[in-house]
This record gives sequence, structure tokens and C-alpha cells, in this order.
Amino acid sequence: MDALDMGDKLEKILLTREQLDAKLDEMAAAIDAEYEGEEILLVGVLNGAVMVMADLARKIHTPCHMDWMAVSSYGSGTKSSGVVRILKDLGTDITDKHVLIVEDIIDSGLTLSWLISNLESRGPASIEIATMLRKPDAVKVEIDVAFVGFDIPNEFVVGYGLDYAGDYRNLPFVGTLASHVYAN
Ligand code: PRP
Repeated sequence: MDALDMGDKLEKILLTREQLDAKLDEMAAAIDAEYEGEEILLVGVLNGAVMVMADLARKIHTPCHMDWMAVSSYGSGTKSSGVVRILKDLGTDITDKHVLIVEDIIDSGLTLSWLISNLESRGPASIEIATMLRKPDAVKVEIDVAFVGFDIPNEFVVGYGLDYAGDYRNLPFVGTLASHVYAN
């Protein structure tokens, strides 16, 4: 999918494919430096983190395993509800493991705050977070994030894993939608 497929539904491109790719290189280098000599467990938070997980995992040199959790926080709208449910749990015992949670976006921080407490109770050696996007103006819970791609304005964005009602996850860039899309 690309901008042409969007027609008049695309308002603007916020981050191009090239900008995302260059940032992933930086994030991967920072992760390799941080975990030198260690092994890590990448935990992708479904569904949005699929793209960043796949791309980041292929750029890091640190030995890693990959696992996934699915939690629900939004439903199909555009605002955080704060309600978190586990839809799919890890298949891995994380006791004494270095866990790196991989996210597409931190919005209110409610999802991650809940997830961190949940995973901490399982006795990992460490837990850190890597997120491609963060919205500082939307934050409701302060979270210490070790690896951040871009801080972005508090507007609803789609692409690179992020959806609106299930659409647009497979855009290679991050962009905003024209207002008439929300009216339908
Ligand atoms: C998005 C995103 C984060 C969460 C961030 O997931 O992937 O997990 O919202 O929002 P928060 O910081 O306000 O909690 P979403 O629940 O939309 O599910 P999805 O990944 O399947 O799209």
C-alpha cells in the first residue's frame, strides 16, 4: 500500500519510509550498545508492533528471541480507553531474561504501564522499552523509555503498523487521515 492507494483519504505524510528506516538503524545501534554481551527477548505488542518488530529485529546484532503479546486498549476508535485485557500471552518464561518490549506507539502510556507491571511480576532480569513513536502531549502515565524513534504531535496517525478501524497498517510511512474519513 502507498500514498496513491490512499487517494483523498491521506491528509499528510508525517514520517517517510526513509526516515523510519534511518531511525531504525539508530535504534538498533543503541540497542546493540546497551546489551553488549547479553541475549535479549524481544516482546512485540500485537498488532501494531509487527512492522517495527520485524524491521528492528533484522537490524540488531545482539542475539535475540522473539515473542508476542496481544493486549486490547482501544477498540476501533481513536482514543485510549485505559482498559487493558490480555488477548494473547507470551509463550516464553521470562524469568531472568532481558526483556525488550517493542511498541509502535506510546500514546497515553496506559497500555505499557500495565504491561510493565504485569511482566515485572514474572521475574525478568530487566525490562526496557523500544517504541518507534511517542506522543509526549498525550501522556497520562510517565514511563521510562530507553529507545524512542520519534516524538510526534498529539494527532491520530496511521501506517507502519498503526490502524484506523483495521485499515492502513500496511502503509510504509506514518501519516494522518483527512477529516472526512472519520465522518464516515
Ligand atoms: C496501540 C499501540 C499501543 C497502544 C498505545 O495499540 O500499539 O499498544 O495503543 O496506547 P496507550 O499508550 O494510550 O496505551 P492498540 O490498542 O490500538 O492495538 P493494535 O496494536 O492492535 O492496533
